[in-house]
Amino acid sequence: MFAGLLKKMQTRGITILGIETSCDDTSAAVIRNGFLLSNVLANQDVHRRYGGVIPELASRAHQQHIIPVVHRALDEAGVQPQSLDAIAFTRGPGLLGSLLVGNAFAKGLALATGAALVEVNHLQGHVLSHFINEQLTMNNEQCSAPRFPFLCLLVSGGHTQIIVVRSHFDFEVIGHTIDDAAGEAFDKCAKVLGLPYPGGPVIDRLAAQGDAAAFRFAKPRAGGLNYSFSGLKTSFLYFVRDQLAANPRFIDERRADLCAALQQTIIDILLENIVRAVAQTGITEVAVAGGVSANSGLRRRLVDESARRGWTAYLPALRFTTDNAAMIAIAGYHKFLHGRTTTLDAAPFAST
Ligand code: KG4
Ligand code: ZN
Repeated sequence: MFAGLLKKMQTRGITILGIETSCDDTSAAVIRNGFLLSNVLANQDVHRRYGGVIPELASRAHQQHIIPVVHRALDEAGVQPQSLDAIAFTRGPGLLGSLLVGNAFAKGLALATGAALVEVNHLQGHVLSHFINEQLTMNNEQCSAPRFPFLCLLVSGGHTQIIVVRSHFDFEVIGHTIDDAAGEAFDKCAKVLGLPYPGGPVIDRLAAQGDAAAFRFAKPRAGGLNYSFSGLKTSFLYFVRDQLAANPRFIDERRADLCAALQQTIIDILLENIVRAVAQTGITEVAVAGGVSANSGLRRRLVDESARRGWTAYLPALRFTTDNAAMIAIAGYHKFLHGRTTTLDAAPFAST
């Protein structure tokens, strides 16, 4: 670490503002020396009635939210914009129109304040959410962060990957989905059942009252450590359609059982490749990250499998599973410490 940075850390601390606008959540967070001071999030209800995110509406809502959200994050942290050392922003992947709002705002604020700019890959942010420290948990209650190297199952609405994480910056993707992401499987099947978007949390809630053994669905294999979820979605859709033809009240009568069986199937598929990945790499530190890692069934199952197989499981705090700026700020903090800053000409990118 540079001598100047070390001195700063010891005196007033390194303060980072994180900005996340990759999809439909506008979020800003402040982190000082790795500790979270604030994390503000504005959801966009506007998409609910369409059953999915409408990109143009998302970018317009980001424009409305970005200033008040950043303002509140700085205010709650008790930080003046001029005392920021760096502004970390999600450069991609995500929706271009949404990313543009956060990218442009971060650059403008960096120019105005003289803070450094640090670009963060959204997926790296999800993985590094495990390294967010909170003041509340300092009294020996701090959730321990995974030790390098660890495996991370990254499961969100846009991605499903198994990653070997060797350092804060050294990531190797050893498995990925060849079609839909796990979150998409939850959301699309929820739509079949007439449930609101995003369907993952609703299925999670309903599954708690259902019987997971009531139905069986296809578990498509994609080869190696890869995943495939589109076949599951299709088999779920056809099954429900056929049952409805015989009994128009089928969904109403069996909603909880359908959710429980579907959730169980998705978790089985996810865990099967984790077992293989552990066998293949010999790494037994296993973390999960991303929106689907909020799923109570997946969290329980990972803890159970870990206890049974001698792995160590790492679950992110629920508030850091779905999109948030705290994960962007912590990733930005580690990049800044290593001098990985960005220039003003960095353009957002939509896909990996
Ligand atoms: O990470 P995230 O907020 O956004 C992306 O980067 O995609 O993930 C959103 C996804 C959605 O598909 C949502 O349905 C899913 O995470 N999700 C869940 C749960 N909470 C959020 N899926 C299953 N169970 C949950 N409790
Ligand atoms: Zn995400």
